[in-house]
Amino acid sequence: MDLKGRSLLKLLDYTPAEIEFILASAAQYKQLKKHGTLHREHEGKSIALLFEKTSTRTRCAFEVAAADLGIAPTFLGKDDIQLGKKESLEDTAKVLGRMYDGIEFRGFKQQDVEDLAKFSQVPVWNGLTDEFHPTQVLADFLTIQEHVGKLKGTKLVFVGDGTDNVSNSLMVGAAKMGMHYVIATPNTLQPPVDLLETATQMATENGGSIEVSDDLATAVSGADVIYTDIWVSMGQEDLIAERISQLKPYQVNMDMIKATNNPDVFFMHCLPAFHDTNTDFAQMVHEKYGLTEMEVTDEVFRSQHSIVFDQAENRLHTIKAVIALTI
Ligand code: CP
Ligand code: NVA
Repeated sequence: MDLKGRSLLKLLDYTPAEIEFILASAAQYKQLKKHGTLHREHEGKSIALLFEKTSTRTRCAFEVAAADLGIAPTFLGKDDIQLGKKESLEDTAKVLGRMYDGIEFRGFKQQDVEDLAKFSQVPVWNGLTDEFHPTQVLADFLTIQEHVGKLKGTKLVFVGDGTDNVSNSLMVGAAKMGMHYVIATPNTLQPPVDLLETATQMATENGGSIEVSDDLATAVSGADVIYTDIWVSMGQEDLIAERISQLKPYQVNMDMIKATNNPDVFFMHCLPAFHDTNTDFAQMVHEKYGLTEMEVTDEVFRSQHSIVFDQAENRLHTIKAVIALTI
């Protein structure tokens, strides 16, 4: 299978076989890294990392993956380049495409990452937009393969904001891989209608299913994995009061874990997570709204169900596979 020259803008653009191929390659890179075997397979190449929004995992994964592959990364934060301010995205893309072998982009509009790919003529990797977070889901699926043992037939329940970018990508990925994906969310936070329709049809073709429900007990029953994300995504911080009132009943806590009726259920979160008050934002939420935990309790986060740091590590191996296969 040859993915050379391909961008990764959204999982919708990839076939199940291609996703499996990337995951298999990531597992191999993980072994190489574990054994200390050098794999500087792309020595002499360069990639640009554009971040309009902040990041820990995605940025570090791209930087370390690049270094491991012998590639030189250039980090460009939101105040470092003109991008859309004094130089159009089109012109910036054309310039970067003349210098770099690939471009990562994290920002707001999905159209921006699509345009970067169109105008740069080099592979572009979506490091998160308001709509999608495809590299996250590749890491999540590698983690599910490692812990649950398979993707097909696995019941993955996303609990929280049904409009979430990570959930959108999980839904598409799950539909492609024949999983049973359930979004437990209030009626006021329904996923995008078109995407839901597309994913539901794809899931049926692949032997899986997609369901959206505000009935928590039924939604989580029999889950193999409970997944959640923060209640307000980057750029939506003003919505905090509304989201707290909508999503408080959807907090992942030990009662919910028990309601799965699966003693071996796994808990996943893309991170960062608000499971305590050890951040400035959580402190503010505590002072203003009286909460000490938000989307997940500290107890669940630190429990034996939680595989969140395996997920975080797998960002490195999966992003490395994406770069190595497409550059
Ligand atoms: N999960 C994730 O994308 O983390 P960062 O925002 O730290 O990159
Ligand atoms: N939904 C979150 C994901 C962070 C990795 C956000 O967009 O902020």
